[in-house]
Amino acid sequence: MDMHVENYRDLVWSDDLALGIQSIDDEHKHWIALVQAFQAAVAEGRSSEEVYRTLAEAVVYTEIHFANEQEVMQEAGYPFLADHLVQHSLAWDQLHAFTTGNAPEENIADYLATFLPQWLMLHINSADRQFARWLKERNAAPAEAEISGRVFTNIPV
Ligand SMILES: [Fe+2]
Repeated sequence: MDMHVENYRDLVWSDDLALGIQSIDDEHKHWIALVQAFQAAVAEGRSSEEVYRTLAEAVVYTEIHFANEQEVMQEAGYPFLADHLVQHSLAWDQLHAFTTGNAPEENIADYLATFLPQWLMLHINSADRQFARWLKERNAAPAEAEISGRVFTNIPV
């Protein structure tokens, strides 16, 4: 078993991940719980039925969460929404390449049990946090918020 999967208990919600936007924070908590359930099913060697049931739940919720988050950004008038959508669609493409591809089942589960939690933590802490920072600054000083809200284009998350 690879070391990322053994460390699955490391993926937990903590206040360090909070962005201060209640609806997004609540969804991130739920998303993490679903990804953790999938990771636990892989790490503990549960039946492939259980592994795929938990994976499907995590993937379905990922799509729901992306849509909701995009709506919050759109309503706020986030000027870097297009950059953010690229990050979401890159991850979505990864998920689909594996869930609809021809890779052997155990490779799919192992790969996604590593990819999903890593991507999720990195994405929350970079791209999502950039949005939260922009929103806070825009509310405080609308004219100056544009520059600091920019997503770093060299970070593929
Ligand atoms: Fe996001």
